[in-house]
Amino acid sequence: MEILKIDTSKTSGTLAPGEIEALSSEALRANALLHNRLGKGNDFLGWVNLPQEISDADLAEINRVAGRLREKAEVIVVIGIGGSYLGAKAVLEAMSDNFALLKKERKHPVVVFAGQNISEDYLYELLETLRDYSFAVISISKSGTTTEPAIAFRLLKAEIEKRYGKQEASERIVAITDASRGALKKLATDEGYDTFVIPDDVGGRFSVLTPVGLLPMATAGLNVAEFVRGAREMAAATAEAVPFAENPAAVYAAARTALYRKGFKIEILASYDPKLLYIAEWWKQLYGESEGKEGKGIFPASVTLTADLHSMGQYIQEGERTLFETVISIAEPAHRVQIDHDPADLDGLNFLAGKRVSEVNAKAEIGVAIAHVDGGVPNLKITLPQISEYYIGALLYFFEKACGISGYMLDVNPFDQPGVEAYKKNMFALLNKPGYEKESQEILKRL
Ligand code: PA5
Repeated sequence: MEILKIDTSKTSGTLAPGEIEALSSEALRANALLHNRLGKGNDFLGWVNLPQEISDADLAEINRVAGRLREKAEVIVVIGIGGSYLGAKAVLEAMSDNFALLKKERKHPVVVFAGQNISEDYLYELLETLRDYSFAVISISKSGTTTEPAIAFRLLKAEIEKRYGKQEASERIVAITDASRGALKKLATDEGYDTFVIPDDVGGRFSVLTPVGLLPMATAGLNVAEFVRGAREMAAATAEAVPFAENPAAVYAAARTALYRKGFKIEILASYDPKLLYIAEWWKQLYGESEGKEGKGIFPASVTLTADLHSMGQYIQEGERTLFETVISIAEPAHRVQIDHDPADLDGLNFLAGKRVSEVNAKAEIGVAIAHVDGGVPNLKITLPQISEYYIGALLYFFEKACGISGYMLDVNPFDQPGVEAYKKNMFALLNKPGYEKESQEILKRL
């Protein structure tokens, strides 16, 4: 089976035959701009060739540091927000047993996250819980100045130093940040932490194939080489020379652009496996931050089905007709569970006897797609053979590539995020951060 398949046939009630293919040269031109570094934001295109550039030595170094942390710690706290958080979280959730926390035997440390919120209770409960476990910290911030992770790191650094002493703490803390700038870089140098560099030309939300994503994965015992291999094969499948129809990223970008231009302004990423919930969160950040600017862009939303059919299903079926749906479909689950025959049949489910649960899920998927298409929600389908490091690596690179192509088709710079500064300015003004005196006076008048 192909590494990933995209099916656009369920857009046919909305798009005329050939309407997606009509955008093929535009999509391929956008892809070429990414490869030739000739489009907007071209100083942030380091992610395009990352899969091929990661060397065995890079992977060995990641595994070496991960090995040390794994030996020392039962819990690894990964600190980061946005692109410095969601990639690792997405892959770990996809690859973890749904009930990992209840397993009596553990081969690997538990990875938890901090710095992705400013909740006092979250941080209190984390610090409380860590008292019962040995722990280590991976602190991730490209800029090295982001407030949320900086607060979490200050608290955890104090705790780890109190518990283990400064020398041992420096063995248990790893920093991932810019090569030369930012408070985290300075701190890591001063304290002698092992440090990994986020390349200058790779933005946060495109950094899952740097140590930002790879080190947390390795500490959790995932096969990072397989993840990179999947991304590498997807990079080949979406390379500049690949014809439109064979390039899934170009086809996906063209299809969603064609729908957007017809007034479908909201894309719902749907999956039928709760393991993919954080893949959708990562995807929302990738597309929302890359495309939502200059008064333009598809709004990325997500649902996990069939759960959300019992909440959002009503809206999707009959609400405002500006939605389209992109389904991530997994061809084969990792395990088998069969529904048995029950002589009493009190629940009336004997019509399912002998079927696997996945057969029911697959029929739900088909039935929902037909219902939604009938209700005026065009449907794109992305099929992955299974959930594994290899296929998730391919999927994430596929989405990155399609995001770059889509962003150029929308004629925005997909690699900046000027809009995220507005809240920071207000928050700093309200907190009287030095340098924000004028903003403080202005905002106080508005309260
Ligand atoms: O995609 C992005 O660039 C952002 O989401 C950043 O990753 C996020 O703001 C965190 O930034 P930093 O890594 O500098 O702390």
